[in-house]
Amino acid sequence: MGRMSLPDITFRLPFMKGQKLSVGLDIGSHSIKACQLEELGDGYRIVGLGSAILPGGAVEDGVLQEPEMVAETLKRLISNLKIKGRKVAISVSGYSVIVKKINLAVMEEEELSSHIQAEAEQYIPFDIEDVYLDYQDLKTNTENEDRTDVMLVAAKRDMVDGYLEMLKDAGVKPVVVDVDAFALENAYGANFGGKKEVVALIDIGASKMNINIVSHGTSILARDVVLGSRLITEQIQSHFDISFEDAEAIKLGIKDAGEDKKEIDDICVNVCTQWVTEVKRALDFYYSNYPDETINKMVLSGGGAKVKGIAQLFSEETGVRTEIFNPFARTDANPAKIDPDYTKYLGPEMTLATGLATRAVAF
Ligand SMILES: Nc1ncnc2c1ncn2[C@@H]1O[C@H](COP(=O)(O)OP(=O)(O)OP(=O)(O)O)[C@@H](O)[C@H]1O
Ligand SMILES: [Mg+2]
Repeated sequence: MGRMSLPDITFRLPFMKGQKLSVGLDIGSHSIKACQLEELGDGYRIVGLGSAILPGGAVEDGVLQEPEMVAETLKRLISNLKIKGRKVAISVSGYSVIVKKINLAVMEEEELSSHIQAEAEQYIPFDIEDVYLDYQDLKTNTENEDRTDVMLVAAKRDMVDGYLEMLKDAGVKPVVVDVDAFALENAYGANFGGKKEVVALIDIGASKMNINIVSHGTSILARDVVLGSRLITEQIQSHFDISFEDAEAIKLGIKDAGEDKKEIDDICVNVCTQWVTEVKRALDFYYSNYPDETINKMVLSGGGAKVKGIAQLFSEETGVRTEIFNPFARTDANPAKIDPDYTKYLGPEMTLATGLATRAVAF
């Protein structure tokens, strides 16, 4: 890792067996998800898991709009879950975060660090004084090459500081600030890592979709699209002229749609088709650069991945095998404490939180 400004902004720390793990906190626009794991054999055991819905508008486009409300919700969640470890890992995304892969001459660690500090401005559209900067040498150079890919991450200080302040107010200690796309990658790696494959990881939340194409463990393409499952709720709301809450209940099947079922299904398919269009765009872009490296499968996570029949629709429309992410594939739970049906139900939206929960922390 490069030279850090305090507080520490890190991503993708090497995972070391035997170390304690941070509590993963995914602060989305719809809800906060918390996950605490401990290592067990070559997998994990769930220590704590839960989510709490946020008041509408409290988090928007990755920015904390109402930090007090978010801190209150977080305090409640942590106390409900009886989480003891207070060291947490969060992730950020949105227009205040830039992730960029750059190609540089191979350099020693020291030299690379000062080069990045000096040259970062040409790669990112922000004033260097206003961002936390981090990078990782992906060491993609082969023996006779003198160039390597370096992953550069810049996150606006005011946005990150807003989160750090809020976490402090909620009584927890942030030890890792990651990027959503990398947390997703870590979640995948923790469960299915080590295979030689190209996968498209797609997280569909309430307000955004995150597409991350990972080839043999390295992210090739990462993009955020402002299209989430809330759009389905909003379209139901305006189509039937009802409240947001009623529309959400109908979408989730809590409230019976009765004779309107067909129209509701059409709205769902319409939004899913917009997601597919964005995914196809990303796939096309990928194939224009890597025509010979076939994408083996797509894996869907986030609450939006719970739309009925979505995996089949994605498979049919793109021709790529699609499955729903199970972030607990290598995780055990004490069934007396945590209901297996509950973990299954929560799985898709817990994905990012589990990725963050596998981050090692020095205690
Ligand atoms: N069965 C379902 N069908 C459709 N949508 C669903 C279903 N279950 C949950 N959702 C939706 O998923 C969204 C919540 O997902 P998630 O927790 O991944 O979002 P988030 O992380 O808070 O949001 P974001 O990442 O976009 O900021 C809500 O819009 C919720 O209505
Ligand atoms: Mg999310």
